[in-house]
Amino acid sequence: MANTAAVRVLVTGGAGYIGAVLCEHLLKAGHRPVVLDRFFWGRAPLEHLAVEAIAGDLRDIREEWLDGIEAVMHLGGLSNDPTAEYNTDANWQMNAIATEKLVGLCKVRKIRRFTFASSASVYDTESSAKELERSPMMCDETTALTPRGAYSISKVHAEKTILAAAGGDFAPVIFRQGTVYGWSPRMRFDLVVNTFIKDAMINRRLFLHGGGWMWRPLVDVSDVARVHVMALEVPLEKIAGQIFNVLEENYQIRQLAMLVAGSFAIKDMHIDLVETPLPALVRNYRMSNAKLSKAIGFTPSVSVLESIQAMIEKLPLAVEELAHPQYYNIRWMTLLEEIHTSQRPFDSIY
Ligand SMILES: NC(=O)c1ccc[n+]([C@@H]2O[C@H](COP(=O)([O-])OP(=O)(O)OC[C@H]3O[C@@H](n4cnc5c(N)ncnc54)[C@H](O)[C@@H]3O)[C@@H](O)[C@H]2O)c1
Repeated sequence: MANTAAVRVLVTGGAGYIGAVLCEHLLKAGHRPVVLDRFFWGRAPLEHLAVEAIAGDLRDIREEWLDGIEAVMHLGGLSNDPTAEYNTDANWQMNAIATEKLVGLCKVRKIRRFTFASSASVYDTESSAKELERSPMMCDETTALTPRGAYSISKVHAEKTILAAAGGDFAPVIFRQGTVYGWSPRMRFDLVVNTFIKDAMINRRLFLHGGGWMWRPLVDVSDVARVHVMALEVPLEKIAGQIFNVLEENYQIRQLAMLVAGSFAIKDMHIDLVETPLPALVRNYRMSNAKLSKAIGFTPSVSVLESIQAMIEKLPLAVEELAHPQYYNIRWMTLLEEIHTSQRPFDSIY
């Protein structure tokens, strides 16, 4: 990796699952992260780090929050389908409109380096049960997109906004991240591998819808962090104004379940795999990481198996801790809303 001077980087969503790990990586590389976050999941994930923080909402972004900022990593907003569908207006305001505002301010401030956490879900191919019998197409960055859900539609809009603004003093890069797995100071248990580990610990049972034949691209959280940091350090002409898929490998859901069950079997814990009916339509897609590897030589460093084993070692076995709603974005969002509407003090749940 190139030796670069310390960069003062605004990390939106820096207190989230990926953001907290990204801040650790930025600090380790000698950079200076400034987190902009509404701290939806609290401040604890950053407590161990010497980072500056701005407690604010992207929807009300102020130009002065960019004072002294030399690069932006944009991760903030709603981060999955259920929360986006739960409040489609908030999703659009946070993921699409706030991105437009942020990009506009970066152009005014002549902030060149800008990374965006987009999602593999923009490929969003739905398959019928019949189609699951063959492997889905391999999507690359040129694949035509037909997003359907509120989340992926807003990500595609944000991507288009960013690319349309590219040029001159603005040199953004878009990362279409696969589904992330792995340990973070702010855990999420609503992501497939992490969910399987939690289900194995709590229920000793993993459910495979329709046998779990669907494909997904996956990547470890530290590799996602690494690629954003690399984007600060590689020559701009290699990445500016481009989209890159970010994944370790494509897996079928049943493979992931077997890797989790196998990792517990080594510890003498038997985990049942239970087949359940397939919904009428399911998501099923694979994507290629060739472009990123060719452009900047990025190679993922943590396999899903290594990550599973590391998480099992780190996680508490206490069921009440693993089942806390704070680890499940949609459960936390609905709980906060209930508390808010019942006039109970919001802060008391952090
Ligand atoms: N985790 C994954 O598997 C995955 C995969 C692909 C893409 N992504 C994208 O990566 C980014 C980070 O995902 P994550 O898993 O860390 O999600 P997360 O939900 O853990 O973190 C999101 C962070 O953004 C903050 N935030 C949300 N709305 C905000 C607003 N209006 N103003 C300021 N801060 C706000 C939250 O408080 C939270 O700290 C998201 O953009 C997500 O769409 C995630």
